[in-house]
Amino acid sequence: MILSHIAAIDQKNGLGKDNDLLVKIPEDQKFFRETTKGKVLIMGRKTFDSLGKPLIGRYHIVVTRQALQSDNPLVTYVSSLDEAYKKARSLISEWPDEVFIIGGAEIYKQSLPQTGKLYLSKIEKAFDADAFYPNVNWNEFELTQENHFETTPPFTVCIYCRKTTQY
Ligand SMILES: NC(=O)c1ccc[n+]([C@@H]2O[C@H](COP(=O)([O-])OP(=O)(O)OC[C@H]3O[C@@H](n4cnc5c(N)ncnc54)[C@H](OP(=O)(O)O)[C@@H]3O)[C@@H](O)[C@H]2O)c1
Repeated sequence: MILSHIAAIDQKNGLGKDNDLLVKIPEDQKFFRETTKGKVLIMGRKTFDSLGKPLIGRYHIVVTRQALQSDNPLVTYVSSLDEAYKKARSLISEWPDEVFIIGGAEIYKQSLPQTGKLYLSKIEKAFDADAFYPNVNWNEFELTQENHFETTPPFTVCIYCRKTTQY
């Protein structure tokens, strides 16, 4: 199993404000949809709530300290990240073995040491954010792909791989 982060960050590593995204760029939303299509996703409860409803064709593992239950077969609540990884691993026979961690700030920070790959959409603008992507030790990662989109605001998708896989 490979654990990957996918996140859109502004020039100050901002992720969101008031439990919402800083900006919605259709081309970046398309990149997110295409990259995570048919995949297992791990997310914090706040990010899951901010989606409004589960994303079609993806398996949602939602991390929470509350005793929550879902009757949707594609949504499971777990009580820790370790439990999330265990659940994700159990799904590998039926789902692809690249598992996407889709946020938010708390979950990106806690899971960063276990990630093998980072898909970061770097938005070329600074917003007034209250949730931030964690600091990354860039010596541990190498840039493997870069795609620029001349949107408003512009953004660049940067894909990084961990130099030595640790998980
Ligand atoms: N730009 C992007 O790509 C992107 C992506 C995702 C999210 N976001 C933004 O990020 C913000 C949300 O981030 P956030 O940090 O506030 O929330 P979050 O990480 O989505 O969720 C936090 C919640 O996860 C649960 N949790 C966290 N650590 C846990 C642990 N170790 N064990 C068990 N449960 C745990 C808790 O849920 P309970 O309170 O239920 O216990 C906690 O309140 C929003 O603004 C959102 O729009 C941006």
